[in-house]
Amino acid sequence: MRIDKLLSNIGYGSRKEVKKILKNGNVTVNGTTVKDAKFHVDPIADSVFLFGEEVQYREFIYLLMNKPAGVISATEDNRDKTVIDLLNEEEAIFNPFPVGRLDKDTEGLLFLTNDGKLAHQLLSPKKNVPKTYFAVINSPVTEVDIEAFAKGVTLDDGYETKPGKLVILKSSQYSDIELTITEGKFHQVKRMFEAVGKKVIFLKRISMGPIKLDETLENGEYRELTEEEVQLLRDFVPSE
Ligand code: URA
Repeated sequence: MRIDKLLSNIGYGSRKEVKKILKNGNVTVNGTTVKDAKFHVDPIADSVFLFGEEVQYREFIYLLMNKPAGVISATEDNRDKTVIDLLNEEEAIFNPFPVGRLDKDTEGLLFLTNDGKLAHQLLSPKKNVPKTYFAVINSPVTEVDIEAFAKGVTLDDGYETKPGKLVILKSSQYSDIELTITEGKFHQVKRMFEAVGKKVIFLKRISMGPIKLDETLENGEYRELTEEEVQLLRDFVPSE
């Protein structure tokens, strides 16, 4: 990889700015000053120093966010704030994008990464990655709903869902439930409840595949996934 590309990728400025830094003799590769922007380096094997400090190269970033209500799961939006707007420059320079979508009013676990391959695997319908949601429902939820969801319900457009696992945490005038589904149709949880005549009034994703929402993250906060967590995700959706 070209040295100017490497330095620019990891956030030391545009290619033009990086060229200037190089020209001024502020970069060494394996102990030798490199001024040529076209100079090729091996980001893993070569030791690159900038202003006397070692540069840690990395290609991918993996974030776990507790998405707040009111922001859009997209990289850009003309009207609303997006989850990318919540990132610090430190992470934003890697150009991560949300892995799938949560509705604007849905909270909870959202991965952001620039690893397109892993994101694709996690979202692939073939992989059946389970996603668990906590929801508050506007009416009593019963055994009849558990059975209906276990068989699959018919959505407003005629689509028959795959089975969902419904757990009732509290059933009264308002109910607290957890629902695990392996699909990601548009507004799926809300539409599954509509299919049984009920309304979701609060929705939060609490897990995806092997990873649970980190409860220490306040709404809108995020952290990097650990290497172990990234490995768990990879093992969960091995590529063919
Ligand atoms: N199901 C929904 O209805 N909304 C979400 O945001 C996620 C799943």
